[in-house]
Order: sequence, then structure tokens, then C-alpha cells
Amino acid sequence: MKKKIVVCTDLGPALSLLTLRDDLDVVVWPDAVDTECPRAWLLKNVQGASGLVVCFKERVDGEVIKAAGPGLRAVSTISVGYDHIDLPLLASRNIQVGYTPDVLTDAVADSAVMLALMASRRTNLTTSVVTSNAWSAFQWTPFALSAPQLSTTPFSAKRTVGFLGFGRIAQAVLRRLTFGFGVSDTIYTPRPEAPPQVMRDAELLRGLMPNLHSLRAVDMHTLAADSDFLFVLAPGGEATRHLIDESFLRRMKPTSVLVNNGRGSVVDSTALAKALKEGWIWGAGLDVIEEEPHVGVGHVLLAEPEVREKCVVVPHLGSATHDTRAEMARLTAVNVLRGVDGEQMESGLDL
Ligand code: DGY
Repeated sequence: MKKKIVVCTDLGPALSLLTLRDDLDVVVWPDAVDTECPRAWLLKNVQGASGLVVCFKERVDGEVIKAAGPGLRAVSTISVGYDHIDLPLLASRNIQVGYTPDVLTDAVADSAVMLALMASRRTNLTTSVVTSNAWSAFQWTPFALSAPQLSTTPFSAKRTVGFLGFGRIAQAVLRRLTFGFGVSDTIYTPRPEAPPQVMRDAELLRGLMPNLHSLRAVDMHTLAADSDFLFVLAPGGEATRHLIDESFLRRMKPTSVLVNNGRGSVVDSTALAKALKEGWIWGAGLDVIEEEPHVGVGHVLLAEPEVREKCVVVPHLGSATHDTRAEMARLTAVNVLRGVDGEQMESGLDL
């Protein structure tokens, strides 16, 4: 009997890695290109599957594992994040879990730098001067709409860049900022439960970057108080929920900029809206929001102009480049195939 692989998400051309195998029965959510897979479709079709392909939107929990039955050998997600997967449960069933680290690091790091620049320059406000036809009335005076600067210049005051979470993506952001923006003073707070590896990587990085004067691990209090630009690059889950809350934001500087490319749940949206409105911080660039995808014009970060003007929001697109998504899809397909074939995944989690 053919082994079944259920694919809930769009793999682009990499889907053919699965469908060309005539020993497999590949069942694909038929509208995967345009819409997210409904839970009911997943629960119905996963029955009897050996392999399951998901994205971070599909929760892989007890209900899915029960519906799949005992033959499930591999779950492969097209994401670096895996807080949507019940890892202890899958480990207890000897089900391999594949994910896509590394290949998206550069795309997400690019996006984080982009959001830092957009938020510091308040692009929502400044582009609206043009799109609302108000440029001709705008008084160009030397300090009008001037903003905090990310790059360090000979005449800049000392500037500190902070990271909450210091994994691969944070380190790739740091490389960009050190080489491209002259940033020399950095601090970080490892995410709760971070492996000791993080500390070793930090030491290595310091050795590799001649213009990096200081790279220090600090507590959350110092991270808030000292960061001029703060990059949140921590995963989701209970351990990191609302680490950026009202008391953290109140400690930040009125000129500091917050960027979140990690998970929305790390930042309390209501507290952030208050911080922007009342000027505790300068601006925010968000690729992720805790309420996503239910984020419309009525959302607390978008409803009021005093908040919206200081906040740039994009709909979770950090890794969305042609090259990166194609490679993520290839890796996701190879992972599920390896798992179903009983081989070690190309990129599997150590459960
Ligand atoms: C991830 O990979 O976890 C992103 O959040 C989605 O690409």
C-alpha cells in the first residue's frame, strides 16, 4: 500500500519532489496557493498519513496526532518557528519534526533592518504627506520630521543596539549593522531557555567583527533602558509571552525604536500602543503582532493616528523573498520525504 503524505500548504515547484514519487499518495489542500488550510480538511485528510506538511498557521496538537493514527512518522513545517507543534507529544510517538532554519536567516535579517529604518523615519507619517496630496503645503524646515538615525557617524552620540533573543537571525542583523551601519555597541538578552551555544556564538562574533567594540549579555532591565534600537527576535510560547510589557516599555528611551520579527506574542500590543501614543518610545516596526492575522484598521496599533503614524506593520513577511521561500519549500519537501522513508531529516529538530 502507498504511504500517504498530506500537504496543507503551498510548496510551489518543490511539490513535485513528492508527487513524482509513484510509491506515495500525496494529498494536497486543493486551494493551497490562495488560502490557508481549514482545520476540518486537515483533520479529515490526515487520517492514515505517514507524513504531514504544514506551515506555522496549522496547529499540530493531540487532536491532529489522534486523527492521523499510529502510522504518522514525519511532520515537516515550512518555518523556522515551531511553537505551533506539540513537540513533547511528537517525541513520545517517535515522530520526526522538520523545520527550515538557516535558509531564511538572511531574508528575515534584511526585513528587520528595513523595519528599523522605516520605523525610525516614521514612514507611515512621511509617506502620507505625499499620498494625501499635502506635499505642496508641507513646510520643509531643517528639523521638520527629522528622526533617530540607525547608522553611527563620527558626529553621532553613542548608540546601543539591543537584541531580545540572540540566535541566528539576531546575529545576522548584527553583522549587517556592524559592517553596513557602523554600529559598535550592542547588548543582548538571550531568550528564556536559550542554549548555552548563544554565549559561545556571541564571543565568536566579537572576534570576527573588528568594529564591534562591545557585545554584552544584559538583564531585561538594562536591555530596556540602554537600547536605542531594540530587535525582538525571540520565539513564541509561554516562556516569552509579553516579555515586552508596559513596565519594560516605560523603561525605554523616548527616542528608541522597537522592531519585532520574532513572534507577536512576545510584545503586549496594548502596552505598545500606549507607549507610542504617550511617547515613551519613538516608533515600532512589526512583522508580527500577537492578534495576527486579525489585525485591521480597528486594531489598537492602527486605530488612532498618533499611534499609527509611529508604527509600521507588515503581515508576517520576514522570509518572503522568491529565493528564500523556494529553498524553504525544497527543504520542507525533503524533510518529509526523509522522515517517511525512515531516514534522518535534512533539517530536523532534536527532540
Ligand atoms: C517562521 O519561519 O517561523 C516565520 O515566522 C514564517 O516564515
